[in-house]
Amino acid sequence: MNSTEKLAHGVPPPTDIIPLIVPEIRGNEWKYVKECLDTNWVSSVGSYVDRFERVTADLVGAKYAIATVNGTAALHIALLLAGVEADDEVLVSTLTFIAPANAIRYVGAWPVFIDAEPRYLQIDPAGVVDFLENDCRWDGQILRNRRTGRRVKAILPVHILGHPVDLDPILAVAAKYSLPVIEDATEGLGARYREKSLGSFGDAGCFSFNGNKIITTGGGGMLVTNNADWAARARYLTTQAKDDPIEYVHNAVGYNYRLTNMLAAMGCAQMEQLDTFIEAKRQIAKRYQESMASLAGIHLPEEADWAFSSLWMYTVLIDESVSPLDSRKLIQELAGQNIQTRPLWQPIHRSRAHSNTASPPSPNADTLYRQAVSLPCSVGLTTHAQDRVVEVIAGLMKNKNQPLTRQ
Ligand SMILES: Cc1ncc(COP(=O)(O)O)c(C=O)c1O
Repeated sequence: MNSTEKLAHGVPPPTDIIPLIVPEIRGNEWKYVKECLDTNWVSSVGSYVDRFERVTADLVGAKYAIATVNGTAALHIALLLAGVEADDEVLVSTLTFIAPANAIRYVGAWPVFIDAEPRYLQIDPAGVVDFLENDCRWDGQILRNRRTGRRVKAILPVHILGHPVDLDPILAVAAKYSLPVIEDATEGLGARYREKSLGSFGDAGCFSFNGNKIITTGGGGMLVTNNADWAARARYLTTQAKDDPIEYVHNAVGYNYRLTNMLAAMGCAQMEQLDTFIEAKRQIAKRYQESMASLAGIHLPEEADWAFSSLWMYTVLIDESVSPLDSRKLIQELAGQNIQTRPLWQPIHRSRAHSNTASPPSPNADTLYRQAVSLPCSVGLTTHAQDRVVEVIAGLMKNKNQPLTRQ
């Protein structure tokens, strides 16, 4: 590859690796970002920030959207809006990327980790209800964890892998105890629960646009809400809490959390392609589904009848009692064949960063963590590359002591 080719737009790096997920940049990204550079509107105000917020709000069906530097910042602000304070407790999924648990600690509160249900891998609504009804006491105004005596202040369900959480039971119990719900929909842009977009059910919804998400701005996030006061407060807190348009007067501690116009420009271009990206993800999932259905020892992801999943991350479960190799061995073998895969996150109740919490047991999450493997599922994954993934997996799952297909 010569230097001109290296600089050409969209030329992929020379590699025969099949990556887990890479961004797909094939729309108006260059055009919109160039416009920011050409017009000097590169920083945290500009028409693309406004447009990206409006487009996201419309997509989600929320009244307001506030762009942030990343999804973690959106979660941090959402917890502040919900009035979560030091020594409060917040219920959160244990089987998730660590960011929401960290955000809970940023405000000095404590996560209470709730197990996953084994079918769709989402936070178990029964676990949420059980904890609030049986492990807490309600004095008519405040709900307290019986074991710690701390106030339970919010619920933070995380929609993982592009599939929705079964929200109805969670929303019902939240309403009963006046608990704000913050949806971490960072992995669920474009997905729907009972025909409504994720992020539109809670008091606030949070999204991430980091490099591996279904659309990306390189790094970025969004907070959506229907609450005008929350939206105004979010705008204020994300821009250093400046109280006067001219004078540098601050009556609160704020944050520098605003997304830049350049990144928002990229986000606008990516948003134009979201439907195509989701369609591509769903096609990839369908092909995996069809070509691996007969393999013994691999449990393929399911979509609930109340769900429209974006299939953002295609994650299978390896049943080590049937499969000749376990998930970690499979990951290792695939890596040796230049196929990049990943385990799921260590359930956060196991993480030393969050060991100091009083949560109910999470046996399902432990099992899912042991069994899960995410397979290559970039929007641009070619059928040729996907066939190779399937072929290598089928070869590895074959073992002279084990039949290849279910009997
Ligand atoms: C479930 C979940 N929550 C929060 C985040 C944090 O988003 P960001 O990386 O944009 O801070 C991510 C992704 O990184 C995520 O997957």
